Amino acid sequence: MSLDPSIFGPARERLRSSRLVDGVATLVVEATGLSEGERAALEKDLRAVALAQPDVHEVRVAMTASRKAGPRLIAVGSGKGGVGKSTVSANLAIAMARLGRKVGIIDADIYGPSQPTLLGTSERPEAKDKQLIPVEAHGIRLLSVGQLVSPGHALAWRGPMASGALTQLVEGDWSDREILIIDLPPGTGDVQLSLIQKSRPAGAVIVSTPQDLALIDARRAVDLFRKTEVPILGLIENMAGYQCPNCGETSDPFGSGGAEAAAAALDVPFLGRLPLSASLREASDAGRPPAAGEGPAAAAFRMLAEAVLARLDP
Ligand SMILES: Nc1ncnc2c1ncn2[C@@H]1O[C@H](COP(=O)(O)OP(=O)(O)OP(=O)(O)O)[C@@H](O)[C@H]1O
Ligand SMILES: [Mg+2]
Repeated sequence: MSLDPSIFGPARERLRSSRLVDGVATLVVEATGLSEGERAALEKDLRAVALAQPDVHEVRVAMTASRKAGPRLIAVGSGKGGVGKSTVSANLAIAMARLGRKVGIIDADIYGPSQPTLLGTSERPEAKDKQLIPVEAHGIRLLSVGQLVSPGHALAWRGPMASGALTQLVEGDWSDREILIIDLPPGTGDVQLSLIQKSRPAGAVIVSTPQDLALIDARRAVDLFRKTEVPILGLIENMAGYQCPNCGETSDPFGSGGAEAAAAALDVPFLGRLPLSASLREASDAGRPPAAGEGPAAAAFRMLAEAVLARLDP
């Protein structure tokens, strides 16, 4: 039999089940989001109420939490470089922030960090108790390899140096963030593998351009995330079609529908596409992320952000 939940008062909101067998009450309690102290207080209250029941002589309390505290990570990867992974990461992060999420971004590209440029910030993070405090830009927070070294030096890093720096970024003070986007270095090698294993992303987004070659590379990224058991949220096609700045007409120099077909063939969701746009590139180079403004690019990034979030929290 089970205990009458009403005896627990408001605390019954947290009670998932209560069983009573031979005088032993077993309470299952949902503790997601509670601090250590709140958990202890809740357990004490429930225990006292149950013990006060005439048939109960022993109480067992099991606390469950649906997910661990702290932000959930979304890794943004690609099989090859230059497909717009960093541009997409920055603008997705900003679009998610504009949808009301608390978002951070980690620029893990040891070969060519670009988030400080994309987000137009040259601020260096401060450290508190050996933990890096992310800097703020466009409503999101950022830590980048580029903030730790002078330009050009990251390229010389190998092995332990690089992985030490990446650990510092991942272990920065992200405590007030809900979502953390990781802009991975291009490719699917050891650096990416160990970073994924260390940070355990809740999901991955793959960026690809429409060319066949890039899609073969996207396949590599899919394999990397499957191997590491990171759920693939989907594929974003970037530089899909070209909108002529003079006449406004869109053409498809690399053909259209390739990424959508590839996503289907790879059995990953297709999240949407972004056209090749000179104004997007100019704004990005100038540190004015289009997602922070108004207009078609901002609208496109908002739709992509909604699609990613919908896959993260189905
Ligand atoms: N949709 C787009 N339209 C026009 N230019 C774009 C678009 N997306 C990205 N770019 C430009 O392409 C270049 C490469 O983009 P980005 O740095 O985001 O790619 P990446 O995949 O992160 O590259 P890397 O492998 O070097 O990290 C940049 O100059 C960027 O402004
Ligand atoms: Mg990049």
